[in-house]
Amino acid sequence: MTREAKPIPGLMKGRDWLMTQDWSDDEIELALDTAGTLKDEFKSGVPTLHLPHKSGFLIFFDKSTRTRNSFEAGMTQLGGHAHFIDSETSQIAHGESPKDMGTILSTYGHGIMIRHDLVPGEGQAYMREVARHASIPVINMQCDVDHPCQTLADLMTIREEFGKDLKDLKIAVSWAYAPSYVKPMSVPQGLIMLMTRFGMNVTLAHPPEYTLMDEPMQIARDNAARSGGRFEVVDNMADAFADADIVYPKSWGVESLFSQPEEAMNVALQYRDWICDEAMMARANERAIYMHCLPADRNYEVTDAVIDGPQSRVYPEAENRLHTAKALMALTM
Ligand code: CP
Repeated sequence: MTREAKPIPGLMKGRDWLMTQDWSDDEIELALDTAGTLKDEFKSGVPTLHLPHKSGFLIFFDKSTRTRNSFEAGMTQLGGHAHFIDSETSQIAHGESPKDMGTILSTYGHGIMIRHDLVPGEGQAYMREVARHASIPVINMQCDVDHPCQTLADLMTIREEFGKDLKDLKIAVSWAYAPSYVKPMSVPQGLIMLMTRFGMNVTLAHPPEYTLMDEPMQIARDNAARSGGRFEVVDNMADAFADADIVYPKSWGVESLFSQPEEAMNVALQYRDWICDEAMMARANERAIYMHCLPADRNYEVTDAVIDGPQSRVYPEAENRLHTAKALMALTM
């Protein structure tokens, strides 16, 4: 007998996913449960046509491999279709407003997904303005403040490794040097906001210029106080890694220098020794896992030996982007 997909609960229909903080703990649990079910069904070949004939509009102001393809493949697997909209080749480039995008796309389909991550102060505000005028759900595919699709997949990956109870696990979220481009701040910000909700001990490490935005820092402090976890900031990777169960070293930019990439790279050059190598990994717990949202600057942020080594979980982490994206679309659209 053909196995049938488990029905998707309807209680989140119409909801936006703009920051993890907008959803309650129970709602995050529902998203993770749904992602787990969809992952099992995908691997078992069970059809999951929860969004037949529905359209999702993917608006990108920045490049992507995982996010674009997980949403496009995910929509197909859910029975719908994803439309790719490049900000440079749509009328957004001529100044079309977020109000018009939200209003008009709401009359054409069933969900709007947006990536707008490279200009501090703009991405989250743009999405909230689209959402204010849209009558269909809006999903944040990465903004200046949060990357909630990434961190949900990260939480799923951590749970798969350590189980559901994450209390007292230590995660080190550290800056690392990367010469390729000035990377958004939203992944470390998203991590400190989400992981502090589950009683984890979150240690953030960065050189002095690489402070994160005030709002996510305050949310992380509040979440840690509420969950019984801990949130601390240190000024070097080695201290952050000490006895960590999860290490997540990655690069991000100086908030005030995103519009001046040459100056930003000059600041970063001072900290070329912020690399995750085997000696750094040895400071963490023996069973510690290495995570990175990808793309990583190999042999700058992390050595090949670490990212390709036995402690690395970057591929399961990237894989979980598909299942979490599908869960968010199936629940909200
Ligand atoms: N981690 C992540 O968001 O990957 P992409 O930039 O390739 O979408």
